[in-house]
Amino acid sequence: MILTVTLNPAIDVRYEISDFNIDKIFRAKSFKTPGGKGLNVSRVLNLLGNSVVATGFLGGSNGTWIKNSLQNLNINSSFIESASETRNCIAILGQGSQTEILEPGAEISEFELKKFIDHYKNLLLENEIICISGSLPKGISGETYKLLCELGKNKKVILDTSGTSLIEALQGNPFLIKPNQEELKAILQTPLDTQEKLIKGALTLRDKGAQNILLSLGKNGAIYIGDDIYKIDIPKIQVINPVGSGDSSVAGFAHGLKNNLPIEEILKYSMACGMSNAMSNETGFISLPVIEELMKKIIVKKIG
Ligand SMILES: Nc1ncnc2c1ncn2[C@@H]1O[C@H](COP(=O)(O)OP(=O)(O)OP(=O)(O)O)[C@@H](O)[C@H]1O
Ligand SMILES: [Mg+2]
Repeated sequence: MILTVTLNPAIDVRYEISDFNIDKIFRAKSFKTPGGKGLNVSRVLNLLGNSVVATGFLGGSNGTWIKNSLQNLNINSSFIESASETRNCIAILGQGSQTEILEPGAEISEFELKKFIDHYKNLLLENEIICISGSLPKGISGETYKLLCELGKNKKVILDTSGTSLIEALQGNPFLIKPNQEELKAILQTPLDTQEKLIKGALTLRDKGAQNILLSLGKNGAIYIGDDIYKIDIPKIQVINPVGSGDSSVAGFAHGLKNNLPIEEILKYSMACGMSNAMSNETGFISLPVIEELMKKIIVKKIG
């Protein structure tokens, strides 16, 4: 099984209101999905045919709703219950506009965190690949991701987070990190306008402790820094909704690892999943026939 960790999950609530504007009343149906980046990863892993167990914190009736939804999708949940209610994140899609209201997330107590760490240690005994994604809830310091990486040092921990949570976690030597170009730029505070600068920038994160780096570049594919350096070129696609493409590319990478594929194939899966997600309206959704077609058109070049 593959373990996914979502410490700050949410119910993603979407309203589609073509003439949305402020100071007006609208009647609209809501579309709800289990959200938080780790749950997007879980959904895509599941669609790729993997058994998944999702962990993190869930609380209140929102927490129960997420647990039931995951069960309907055949994703195992093994969450720690938090006293505070799991948050909602609201997106209002207008014609060419997207308005978002993001609740900060439940506050986690020291006791709940300790309970989670003990639980995580047990889950590590049964899982070889761990995908940790997203922001940290209130009450939890950046040190926590470092600890989760350290505890998983004999496993393959994939960490997808940003800012100080990412920088602090690097000392825990995650197996893979997946920053995008903006996230790398924000950390290094320097322009990254050439391939050389991107590689040099990514290498500084390796010096700080990341074992391997997948630097995703949206429509420009990705650069992978592992034992060797690869540039992955992808074909042009019709993009519908790229939100969650990074999460889908994490799932594709984990799927390739789980199946012991060569690195070139792992990278192709990763890109194809990100692309397939971008070609769909839903967040954290891929289509297997689309993936199969895309895989043939992705070019992985060793450049260093
Ligand atoms: N516009 C696009 N066209 C083609 N492929 C895309 C596009 N956007 C994303 N992808 C695919 O998905 C992968 C990951 O996307 P991206 O670099 O945007 O991640 P991200 O910014 O972390 O996304 P998110 O955090 O919203 O999940 C890319 O490497 C690429 O394969
Ligand atoms: Mg991302």
